[in-house]
Amino acid sequence: SLEAGGQLMSPKSPLKVFGEAKKKINDIFTDIEKYITDAKSFVSSIVNLEYELTSTDDEEFIDELCNRVCGIQEMLNRDRMKVAFFGRTSNGKSTVINAMLKRRILPTGMGHTTNCFLQVEGGTSDEGTMYEPIPDSNEEQVRSIESINQLASALSEVKLNESSLLRIVWPQDKCNLLRDDVVLVDSPGIDVSPDLDKWITKHCLDADVFVLVANAESTLMQTEKNFFHKVSNMLSKPNIFILQNRWDASARGTPSEETIKLVKQQHLDRAKAFLVNELGVVSKAEAEKRIFFVSAEEALIARVHQEAGTPTPTSALSEGHQGRLFEFATFERRFEECISQSAVQTKFAQHAVNGKDMVVKLHKLIGIVRESAVSCYESKQQQRIDAASQLDYVEKQLELLTSDVRAKIDEVVLDIEKKVASAFTDEIRR
Ligand code: GTP
Ligand code: MG
Repeated sequence: SLEAGGQLMSPKSPLKVFGEAKKKINDIFTDIEKYITDAKSFVSSIVNLEYELTSTDDEEFIDELCNRVCGIQEMLNRDRMKVAFFGRTSNGKSTVINAMLKRRILPTGMGHTTNCFLQVEGGTSDEGTMYEPIPDSNEEQVRSIESINQLASALSEVKLNESSLLRIVWPQDKCNLLRDDVVLVDSPGIDVSPDLDKWITKHCLDADVFVLVANAESTLMQTEKNFFHKVSNMLSKPNIFILQNRWDASARGTPSEETIKLVKQQHLDRAKAFLVNELGVVSKAEAEKRIFFVSAEEALIARVHQEAGTPTPTSALSEGHQGRLFEFATFERRFEECISQSAVQTKFAQHAVNGKDMVVKLHKLIGIVRESAVSCYESKQQQRIDAASQLDYVEKQLELLTSDVRAKIDEVVLDIEKKVASAFTDEIRR
């Protein structure tokens, strides 16, 4: 079902999967960090003992693991889901992003509007911030932005090279997408730059999803296709969505339902052929779930009103807008499922492998320390047993000896007694 602003009502966004996975893997690394610091203090406590159970090499190795865990934890904190929007000038890329953010954050307009890459991401401050790269340096100019109007005027002053990236950190509490760790990247029209390879390597290699914003009033252009050919050459099976935008135009001039159906089928066939046959990024069945007929402008109008709590004047929307709003919401839902799944896979799978590797290595090291402790204990034990049995032997010898001596003494005593007795008898006889 549909809410007033044309969004699907749902108890839980698929984007939460990413947040939950991130929290889980973060907790696991907190545990791993604890094991490592425990192991470190244990090894340090025994490294100087005389038994040579462990060495300073082991200590250094554990330090290395510590650094690795910290590195991964830092990366985890930075990991976000990234979606990049491409398409020809004026197809409505910036409008699509605004509709998804439910407010007019990015400037839109007729003609060539967006003239460099714009990245919108969430921040915890309740003010916006704009980070503008200073050409020919690694520095950025940082500007605090209080309102959307102020952002618009700040952006209109920006004069940057079209492949530079300007970051806008926007209060995440105001937008669900930003709160759920989605980063949105707007681009200049792909027809205005010959430097597409550079764009891809600079801004797209880590994108989880690409959205091609096409114009349903015309048809997919070769420049748009070429760009995505390059993308899919550099990335294996990129996730691509195609938005046939400006679909509200199909209602203009009140064409017959039959005509609209035919035009839609033509767009659908071409877009499918592009994704399935030309790029080979999805199967025929999946392709259906990647192509949407929308009006970003209508979706934006409906959402801005929804956010303000004012009813959308029907005059602002064209005939058949319900269906297009629904389609936009369906796109968002599919997009959310796709991006969270892909980001969990590409970002966290590698961390999981690394984490496991560290635990295995640490386990092995502690195992070796334990083994040498056991064998040290056993050899001490053996020494003790040996000493004890030697003692036993000596005792027995001593016993034998003393019993010999006692027997001899007994003999002597007996002999003396006898002698004394016979001497005594002789004396009496005399
Ligand atoms: P550049 O930044 O110049 O590359 O263009 P863009 O692709 O970002 O297009 P933008 O969002 O600025 O939209 C261009 C114009 O088309 C604006 O005037 C929008 O209001 C209008 N527009 C965008 N989407 C739609 C739509 O779905 N229907 C209609 N009728 N107009 C739209
Ligand atoms: Mg734009």
